[in-house]
Amino acid sequence: MHIDENLIRALPKAEVHVHLEGSLELADLLELAKAAGAPLPGPAATLFDVSTHDNPGAFENGTGGGASNGIGVTGLSGFLQFLDWEGSLVRSREQLARIAYRFAARQSASGVRYTDAIINPTHWAPWASDVAGLFDALASGLDEAEADGLATVNLCYSLLRTQSAEAGVRAATWLTENRPARVIALSIDGDERSAGRTGIRFAEAFDIAARGGLRRTVHAGESSGPEGVWDAIRLLHADRIDHGVRAIEDPELVDYLAEHEIPLGICPRSNLTLGIYPDLESHPLAELQRRGVIVTVNTDDPAPLGTRLENEWALVAGAYDWGLPELVTLAKASVAASFAPDDLQRSMLTAIDDAAVSLAPAFR
Ligand code: ADE
Ligand code: ZN
Repeated sequence: MHIDENLIRALPKAEVHVHLEGSLELADLLELAKAAGAPLPGPAATLFDVSTHDNPGAFENGTGGGASNGIGVTGLSGFLQFLDWEGSLVRSREQLARIAYRFAARQSASGVRYTDAIINPTHWAPWASDVAGLFDALASGLDEAEADGLATVNLCYSLLRTQSAEAGVRAATWLTENRPARVIALSIDGDERSAGRTGIRFAEAFDIAARGGLRRTVHAGESSGPEGVWDAIRLLHADRIDHGVRAIEDPELVDYLAEHEIPLGICPRSNLTLGIYPDLESHPLAELQRRGVIVTVNTDDPAPLGTRLENEWALVAGAYDWGLPELVTLAKASVAASFAPDDLQRSMLTAIDDAAVSLAPAFR
Protein backbone atom coordinates (compact mmCIF):
# COMPACT_ATOMS: atom_id res chain seq x y z
CA MET A 1 0.00 0.00 0.00
CA HIS A 2 1.32 3.46 -0.80
CA ILE A 3 1.29 5.66 2.27
CA ASP A 4 0.84 9.40 1.89
CA GLU A 5 4.12 11.02 2.83
CA ASN A 6 2.28 13.75 4.73
CA LEU A 7 1.20 11.08 7.22
CA ILE A 8 4.79 9.97 7.64
CA ARG A 9 5.90 13.57 8.18
CA ALA A 10 3.31 13.85 10.95
CA LEU A 11 4.92 11.02 12.90
CA PRO A 12 7.70 12.28 15.22
CA LYS A 13 10.93 10.39 14.64
CA ALA A 14 14.72 10.41 14.85
CA GLU A 15 17.24 9.96 12.08
CA VAL A 16 20.47 8.19 12.99
CA HIS A 17 22.34 7.76 9.70
CA VAL A 18 22.69 10.88 7.59
CA HIS A 19 25.87 12.63 6.43
CA LEU A 20 26.01 16.40 6.64
CA GLU A 21 28.25 16.46 3.56
CA GLY A 22 25.57 14.47 1.73
CA SER A 23 22.84 16.96 2.58
CA LEU A 24 23.86 20.00 0.53
CA GLU A 25 21.11 20.75 -1.96
CA LEU A 26 21.91 21.40 -5.61
CA ALA A 27 21.07 25.13 -5.38
CA ASP A 28 23.25 25.51 -2.29
CA LEU A 29 26.14 23.76 -4.04
CA LEU A 30 25.86 25.97 -7.10
CA GLU A 31 25.91 29.08 -4.93
CA LEU A 32 28.90 27.81 -2.98
CA ALA A 33 30.78 26.95 -6.17
CA LYS A 34 30.10 30.41 -7.57
CA ALA A 35 31.26 32.08 -4.33
CA ALA A 36 34.42 29.95 -4.32
CA GLY A 37 35.07 30.55 -8.05
CA ALA A 38 35.26 26.76 -8.45
CA PRO A 39 34.39 25.05 -11.74
CA LEU A 40 31.59 22.48 -11.74
CA PRO A 41 32.55 18.90 -12.60
CA GLY A 42 29.59 18.70 -15.00
CA PRO A 43 26.50 20.62 -16.17
CA ALA A 44 24.76 22.40 -13.27
CA ALA A 45 21.31 20.97 -13.86
CA THR A 46 22.51 17.38 -13.85
CA LEU A 47 25.24 17.47 -11.25
CA PHE A 48 23.48 14.75 -9.28
CA ASP A 49 22.48 12.78 -12.37
CA VAL A 50 24.94 10.47 -14.08
CA SER A 51 22.58 9.50 -16.85
CA THR A 52 22.72 12.92 -18.49
CA HIS A 53 26.15 13.87 -17.16
CA ASP A 54 28.36 14.67 -20.13
CA ASN A 55 31.54 14.37 -18.10
CA PRO A 56 31.08 11.14 -16.18
CA GLY A 57 34.84 10.69 -15.86
CA ALA A 58 35.14 13.80 -13.67
CA PHE A 59 35.17 11.50 -10.67
CA GLU A 60 36.45 7.99 -11.02
CA ASN A 61 34.53 4.85 -10.28
CA GLY A 62 36.60 3.28 -7.55
CA THR A 63 34.63 0.13 -6.78
CA GLY A 64 33.39 -1.12 -10.09
CA GLY A 65 30.46 -2.53 -8.15
CA GLY A 66 28.08 0.40 -8.18
CA ALA A 67 25.18 0.91 -10.47
CA SER A 68 24.76 4.13 -12.39
CA ASN A 69 23.63 6.15 -9.44
CA GLY A 70 22.27 9.51 -10.46
CA ILE A 71 24.90 11.45 -8.51
CA GLY A 72 27.35 12.33 -11.23
CA VAL A 73 29.53 9.34 -10.35
CA THR A 74 29.29 5.58 -10.07
CA GLY A 75 30.21 3.47 -7.08
CA LEU A 76 31.04 4.32 -3.51
CA SER A 77 34.64 5.50 -4.05
CA GLY A 78 33.60 7.90 -6.78
CA PHE A 79 30.79 9.09 -4.54
CA LEU A 80 33.21 9.86 -1.71
CA GLN A 81 35.28 11.94 -4.13
CA PHE A 82 32.14 13.87 -5.00
CA LEU A 83 31.69 14.65 -1.29
CA ASP A 84 35.29 15.92 -1.23
CA TRP A 85 34.42 18.30 -4.03
CA GLU A 86 31.35 19.54 -2.15
CA GLY A 87 33.29 20.12 1.07
CA SER A 88 36.06 21.95 -0.79
CA LEU A 89 33.59 24.71 -1.68
CA VAL A 90 32.80 25.69 1.89
CA ARG A 91 35.19 28.40 3.00
CA SER A 92 33.57 30.53 5.72
CA ARG A 93 32.08 30.09 9.17
CA GLU A 94 28.87 31.74 7.96
CA GLN A 95 28.51 29.19 5.17
CA LEU A 96 28.97 26.34 7.65
CA ALA A 97 26.42 27.79 10.06
CA ARG A 98 23.90 28.19 7.19
CA ILE A 99 24.47 24.61 6.05
CA ALA A 100 23.83 23.36 9.59
CA TYR A 101 20.77 25.58 10.08
CA ARG A 102 19.18 24.52 6.79
CA PHE A 103 19.91 20.90 7.56
CA ALA A 104 17.98 21.20 10.85
CA ALA A 105 15.14 22.93 9.01
CA ARG A 106 14.89 20.12 6.44
CA GLN A 107 14.94 17.52 9.19
CA SER A 108 12.08 19.33 10.93
CA ALA A 109 10.08 19.42 7.71
CA SER A 110 10.33 15.60 7.59
CA GLY A 111 8.96 15.32 11.13
CA VAL A 112 12.40 14.56 12.55
CA ARG A 113 12.78 15.83 16.11
CA TYR A 114 16.27 14.53 16.74
CA THR A 115 19.23 13.65 14.46
CA ASP A 116 22.66 12.10 14.93
CA ALA A 117 24.36 13.72 11.91
CA ILE A 118 27.66 12.33 10.64
CA ILE A 119 30.39 14.76 9.63
CA ASN A 120 33.68 13.56 8.24
CA PRO A 121 36.26 16.39 8.37
CA THR A 122 38.35 14.77 5.61
CA HIS A 123 35.67 15.85 3.11
CA TRP A 124 36.02 19.51 4.18
CA ALA A 125 39.55 20.29 2.96
CA PRO A 126 39.51 24.07 3.62
CA TRP A 127 39.10 23.20 7.34
CA ALA A 128 41.95 20.70 7.55
CA SER A 129 43.98 22.98 9.78
CA ASP A 130 40.99 24.28 11.75
CA VAL A 131 38.78 21.34 12.65
CA ALA A 132 37.83 23.15 15.87
CA GLY A 133 36.54 26.05 13.75
CA LEU A 134 34.59 23.64 11.52
CA PHE A 135 32.74 22.12 14.48
CA ASP A 136 32.29 25.41 16.26
CA ALA A 137 30.64 27.02 13.23
CA LEU A 138 28.36 24.03 12.65
CA ALA A 139 27.35 24.00 16.31
CA SER A 140 26.47 27.70 16.14
CA GLY A 141 24.11 27.04 13.22
CA LEU A 142 22.55 24.10 15.07
CA ASP A 143 22.17 26.19 18.24
CA GLU A 144 20.40 28.90 16.27
CA ALA A 145 18.14 26.31 14.65
CA GLU A 146 17.16 24.81 17.98
CA ALA A 147 16.56 28.25 19.48
CA ASP A 148 14.19 28.89 16.53
CA GLY A 149 12.20 25.75 17.40
CA LEU A 150 13.77 23.44 14.82
CA ALA A 151 14.97 19.86 15.38
CA THR A 152 17.83 19.03 17.71
CA VAL A 153 20.88 17.86 15.79
CA ASN A 154 23.99 16.36 17.38
CA LEU A 155 27.16 15.42 15.54
CA CYS A 156 29.15 12.23 15.05
CA TYR A 157 32.79 12.97 14.19
CA SER A 158 33.64 10.49 11.45
CA LEU A 159 37.01 9.05 10.53
CA LEU A 160 37.61 7.79 6.98
CA ARG A 161 38.47 4.10 6.51
CA THR A 162 41.61 5.00 4.58
CA GLN A 163 43.06 7.20 7.34
CA SER A 164 45.96 5.98 9.45
CA ALA A 165 45.80 4.60 12.99
CA GLU A 166 47.71 7.71 14.15
CA ALA A 167 45.20 10.06 12.54
CA GLY A 168 42.40 8.17 14.27
CA VAL A 169 44.10 8.40 17.65
CA ARG A 170 44.83 12.10 17.13
CA ALA A 171 41.16 12.79 16.34
CA ALA A 172 39.84 10.74 19.27
CA THR A 173 42.28 12.38 21.68
CA TRP A 174 41.37 15.84 20.43
CA LEU A 175 37.67 15.05 20.80
CA THR A 176 37.92 13.72 24.32
CA GLU A 177 40.22 16.51 25.50
CA ASN A 178 38.17 19.31 23.95
CA ARG A 179 34.65 17.88 23.82
CA PRO A 180 33.44 20.21 21.02
CA ALA A 181 29.84 21.34 21.38
CA ARG A 182 27.22 18.90 20.03
CA VAL A 183 29.70 16.12 19.21
CA ILE A 184 28.39 13.01 20.92
CA ALA A 185 30.02 10.15 19.03
CA LEU A 186 33.02 8.90 17.13
CA SER A 187 32.11 7.34 13.79
CA ILE A 188 33.91 5.77 10.87
CA ASP A 189 32.77 5.72 7.25
CA GLY A 190 34.25 5.36 3.79
CA ASP A 191 34.88 2.46 1.47
CA GLU A 192 35.78 -0.77 3.25
CA ARG A 193 36.10 -2.63 -0.02
CA SER A 194 39.02 -0.47 -1.14
CA ALA A 195 40.50 0.10 2.36
CA GLY A 196 40.47 -3.57 3.29
CA ARG A 197 39.85 -5.03 6.73
CA THR A 198 40.85 -2.10 8.90
CA GLY A 199 38.99 -2.63 12.19
CA ILE A 200 42.14 -3.29 14.17
CA ARG A 201 43.75 -0.10 12.84
CA PHE A 202 41.09 2.02 14.54
CA ALA A 203 40.68 0.01 17.76
CA GLU A 204 42.79 2.39 19.84
CA ALA A 205 40.95 5.48 18.59
CA PHE A 206 37.58 3.93 19.44
CA ASP A 207 38.88 2.86 22.82
CA ILE A 208 39.97 6.43 23.60
CA ALA A 209 36.55 7.68 22.51
CA ALA A 210 34.74 5.15 24.71
CA ARG A 211 36.85 5.99 27.74
CA GLY A 212 36.22 9.69 27.08
CA GLY A 213 32.45 9.19 27.17
CA LEU A 214 31.71 9.32 23.44
CA ARG A 215 29.27 6.93 21.78
CA ARG A 216 30.40 4.84 18.79
CA THR A 217 28.84 4.22 15.40
CA VAL A 218 30.53 2.34 12.57
CA HIS A 219 29.87 1.96 8.83
CA ALA A 220 30.07 -1.77 8.17
CA GLY A 221 28.26 -4.47 6.27
CA GLU A 222 27.77 -2.22 3.22
CA SER A 223 31.03 -2.30 1.26
CA SER A 224 32.19 -5.08 3.60
CA GLY A 225 30.46 -8.36 4.41
CA PRO A 226 29.54 -9.74 7.84
CA GLU A 227 33.22 -9.79 8.86
CA GLY A 228 33.17 -5.97 8.80
CA VAL A 229 30.22 -5.96 11.20
CA TRP A 230 31.94 -8.45 13.52
CA ASP A 231 35.04 -6.21 13.55
CA ALA A 232 32.87 -3.19 14.34
CA ILE A 233 31.46 -5.06 17.33
CA ARG A 234 34.55 -6.86 18.59
CA LEU A 235 37.27 -4.34 17.81
CA LEU A 236 35.47 -0.99 17.84
CA HIS A 237 32.70 -1.78 20.35
CA ALA A 238 30.08 -0.10 18.19
CA ASP A 239 26.86 1.02 19.87
CA ARG A 240 25.22 1.13 16.46
CA ILE A 241 26.07 -0.09 12.96
CA ASP A 242 25.59 2.20 9.95
CA HIS A 243 24.10 0.03 7.17
CA GLY A 244 24.96 -3.44 8.55
CA VAL A 245 22.65 -5.02 6.00
CA ARG A 246 25.15 -7.66 4.89
CA ALA A 247 24.98 -9.10 8.42
CA ILE A 248 22.18 -11.15 6.88
CA GLU A 249 24.86 -13.40 5.33
CA ASP A 250 25.85 -14.74 8.78
CA PRO A 251 23.01 -16.19 10.91
CA GLU A 252 25.15 -16.15 14.06
CA LEU A 253 25.77 -12.44 13.58
CA VAL A 254 22.06 -11.76 13.06
CA ASP A 255 21.34 -13.50 16.38
CA TYR A 256 24.12 -11.55 18.08
CA LEU A 257 22.79 -8.18 16.86
CA ALA A 258 19.29 -9.12 18.02
CA GLU A 259 20.37 -10.46 21.40
CA HIS A 260 22.66 -7.50 22.19
CA GLU A 261 20.20 -4.96 20.81
CA ILE A 262 22.74 -3.34 18.48
CA PRO A 263 20.63 -1.28 16.07
CA LEU A 264 21.24 -0.93 12.35
CA GLY A 265 21.01 2.43 10.56
CA ILE A 266 19.69 1.15 7.25
CA CYS A 267 19.45 3.37 4.15
CA PRO A 268 17.39 1.53 1.52
CA ARG A 269 17.68 3.89 -1.43
CA SER A 270 21.40 4.36 -0.87
CA ASN A 271 21.85 0.58 -0.98
CA LEU A 272 19.90 0.35 -4.24
CA THR A 273 21.63 3.34 -5.83
CA LEU A 274 25.13 2.23 -4.86
CA GLY A 275 24.40 -1.27 -6.11
CA ILE A 276 24.44 -3.22 -2.83
CA TYR A 277 21.07 -4.79 -3.73
CA PRO A 278 19.22 -4.64 -7.06
CA ASP A 279 15.76 -4.07 -5.55
CA LEU A 280 13.83 -3.97 -2.28
CA GLU A 281 12.58 -7.52 -2.79
CA SER A 282 16.13 -8.77 -2.35
CA HIS A 283 16.97 -6.23 0.39
CA PRO A 284 17.25 -7.86 3.85
CA LEU A 285 15.61 -5.10 5.93
CA ALA A 286 12.35 -6.95 6.59
CA GLU A 287 14.09 -10.26 7.25
CA LEU A 288 16.52 -8.67 9.73
CA GLN A 289 13.60 -7.11 11.56
CA ARG A 290 11.66 -10.38 11.55
CA ARG A 291 14.66 -12.06 13.16
CA GLY A 292 14.67 -9.56 16.02
CA VAL A 293 17.25 -7.00 14.92
CA ILE A 294 16.43 -3.36 15.72
CA VAL A 295 16.25 -1.70 12.31
CA THR A 296 15.93 1.99 11.51
CA VAL A 297 15.32 3.62 8.12
CA ASN A 298 17.47 6.59 7.10
CA THR A 299 18.59 8.65 4.12
CA ASP A 300 22.45 8.42 4.19
CA ASP A 301 23.14 11.23 1.66
CA PRO A 302 19.73 12.70 0.91
CA ALA A 303 20.67 15.46 -1.53
CA PRO A 304 22.68 13.55 -4.14
CA LEU A 305 20.45 10.50 -3.67
CA GLY A 306 17.40 12.72 -4.29
CA THR A 307 15.54 11.61 -1.21
CA ARG A 308 14.02 12.76 2.09
CA LEU A 309 13.32 10.66 5.13
CA GLU A 310 9.58 10.48 4.40
CA ASN A 311 10.43 9.12 0.93
CA GLU A 312 12.55 6.35 2.47
CA TRP A 313 9.83 5.38 4.93
CA ALA A 314 7.17 5.42 2.20
CA LEU A 315 9.40 3.30 -0.04
CA VAL A 316 9.84 0.66 2.65
CA ALA A 317 6.20 0.77 3.78
CA GLY A 318 5.09 0.28 0.18
CA ALA A 319 7.49 -2.61 -0.46
CA TYR A 320 6.60 -4.50 2.72
CA ASP A 321 2.95 -3.49 2.91
CA TRP A 322 3.35 -1.70 6.23
CA GLY A 323 0.61 0.29 7.95
CA LEU A 324 0.50 2.53 11.01
CA PRO A 325 1.59 -0.09 13.61
CA GLU A 326 4.77 -0.86 11.67
CA LEU A 327 5.51 2.84 11.17
CA VAL A 328 5.05 3.45 14.89
CA THR A 329 7.48 0.58 15.61
CA LEU A 330 9.94 2.18 13.19
CA ALA A 331 9.57 5.60 14.82
CA LYS A 332 10.12 4.17 18.30
CA ALA A 333 13.12 2.17 17.10
CA SER A 334 14.63 5.34 15.62
CA VAL A 335 14.40 7.05 19.01
CA ALA A 336 15.81 4.06 20.92
CA ALA A 337 18.68 3.70 18.43
CA SER A 338 19.58 7.38 18.65
CA PHE A 339 22.07 9.04 20.96
CA ALA A 340 19.42 11.57 22.04
CA PRO A 341 19.43 12.44 25.75
CA ASP A 342 17.07 10.35 27.87
CA ASP A 343 14.58 13.14 28.57
CA LEU A 344 14.25 13.94 24.86
CA GLN A 345 13.83 10.22 24.09
CA ARG A 346 11.02 9.99 26.65
CA SER A 347 9.19 13.04 25.31
CA MET A 348 9.55 11.78 21.74
CA LEU A 349 8.11 8.37 22.63
CA THR A 350 5.10 10.10 24.19
CA ALA A 351 4.74 12.31 21.11
CA ILE A 352 4.81 9.22 18.87
CA ASP A 353 1.98 7.60 20.87
CA ASP A 354 -0.04 10.82 20.68
CA ALA A 355 0.54 11.11 16.92
CA ALA A 356 -0.45 7.45 16.43
CA VAL A 357 -3.84 8.18 18.00
CA SER A 358 -4.50 11.19 15.80
CA LEU A 359 -3.25 9.47 12.65
CA ALA A 360 -5.25 6.27 13.15
CA PRO A 361 -8.39 7.44 11.24
CA ALA A 362 -6.27 8.24 8.18
CA PHE A 363 -5.03 4.63 8.05
CA ARG A 364 -8.48 2.99 8.23
N1 ADE B 1 30.01 8.45 3.31
C1 ADE B 1 28.90 9.00 2.82
N2 ADE B 1 28.05 8.04 2.38
C2 ADE B 1 28.66 6.85 2.62
C3 ADE B 1 28.31 5.50 2.42
N3 ADE B 1 27.14 5.15 1.87
N4 ADE B 1 29.20 4.55 2.77
C4 ADE B 1 30.37 4.87 3.31
N5 ADE B 1 30.75 6.12 3.55
C5 ADE B 1 29.90 7.11 3.21
ZN1 ZN C 1 26.52 6.47 5.51
